[in-house]
Amino acid sequence: MAKRVLVTGGTGYIGSHTTVELLEAGYEVVIVDNLSNSERTVLNGIRKITGRKVPFHKVDCRSLASLRRIFVRYGFDAVIHFAASKAVGESVEQPLMYYQNNLVSLMNILQLMRENGVRNLVFSSSCTVYGQAEKLPVSEQTPRREATSPYGNTKHMCEDIIRDSVAAYPEIHAIALRYFNPIGAHPSAEIGELPRGVPNNLIPFVTQTAAGIRPMLSVFGDDYNTPDGSCIRDYINVTDLAKAHVVAVGRMTGDKMKQPFEVFNIGTGRGVSTLEVVRTFEKVNNLKLNYKIVGRRAGDIEAVWADPTYANEELGWKAEKSLDETLQSAWNWQKHLGEKKSK
Ligand code: UD1
Repeated sequence: MAKRVLVTGGTGYIGSHTTVELLEAGYEVVIVDNLSNSERTVLNGIRKITGRKVPFHKVDCRSLASLRRIFVRYGFDAVIHFAASKAVGESVEQPLMYYQNNLVSLMNILQLMRENGVRNLVFSSSCTVYGQAEKLPVSEQTPRREATSPYGNTKHMCEDIIRDSVAAYPEIHAIALRYFNPIGAHPSAEIGELPRGVPNNLIPFVTQTAAGIRPMLSVFGDDYNTPDGSCIRDYINVTDLAKAHVVAVGRMTGDKMKQPFEVFNIGTGRGVSTLEVVRTFEKVNNLKLNYKIVGRRAGDIEAVWADPTYANEELGWKAEKSLDETLQSAWNWQKHLGEKKSK
């Protein structure tokens, strides 16, 4: 019988891509999402790609009672918990909202897993837990640093809540995936990133500028201690990232874990500067981007990229897609959105 996975935040950016990869790998998926930062129409994109209609429930993970009904109605073999708020700036302005949403949701999930005999949790963590590391690239052994925002703090705290819970309750196992910078869209251009309002993240700002929705991209700083002066990140294709979740679920349900709580870096191992992203985007999509260099953005890390060796060797997972095709997919998705609007 197909294994069934609960995907919280399944209509979101990474959740929707992961749902597609799970379905294509033969899993059954149930999505819960409160639609606070995503659209119901994402389900149509998932259906177009996979030919499958995924059960969807508009549920807020902060509501224990609503979430309990989902756990009781379906039996799950694993939970992938994406549902969380993720805007750094917003978290500084509304810390309580961030702690409420990100911590309470996770605690509810853990409680309901115990109540309902669900053993396996995959948690969305972030390279933000490393802060500005002294030594690059960062491995899973790199010490975590004190977070610089409430958002980052929630990722620290969630990892700690999971670590303590797994230690106390042997019936629960967990894998935390520390994502680097997920970008791009499904090659079909049926799903992708759907930011609301002015995007905070680089790639949606780039694609919206190319589409003429924003007049100009601001590159935040060219005076960092990096080869071209702009910040360096590890940009990981969202479909590659989605596949890491499928592998993690397989590892857990197949009893292949070495520890009841494992942590993996999910990145490419390659650091790319903001200006390199801009130039590559222009080259592969054959267009000119209107941009200017402005001052640094408060709270930005100068440089971070992954040492993904542990994930490569232990999970047998590797980032496969090139930056070129990833930036093409991002632009194709933006164009697809434009076409849908003009229809
Ligand atoms: C950060 C966190 C990441 C978190 C994400 C949530 C770090 C290292 N990363 O990503 O863990 O999941 O927030 O949103 O803490 N940039 C511009 N102009 C723009 C937008 C961005 O130049 O308009 C630059 C930024 O300065 C940065 C790079 O592009 O150097 C990537 O920025 P962004 O996409 O916002 O992601 P991070 O800040 O790296």
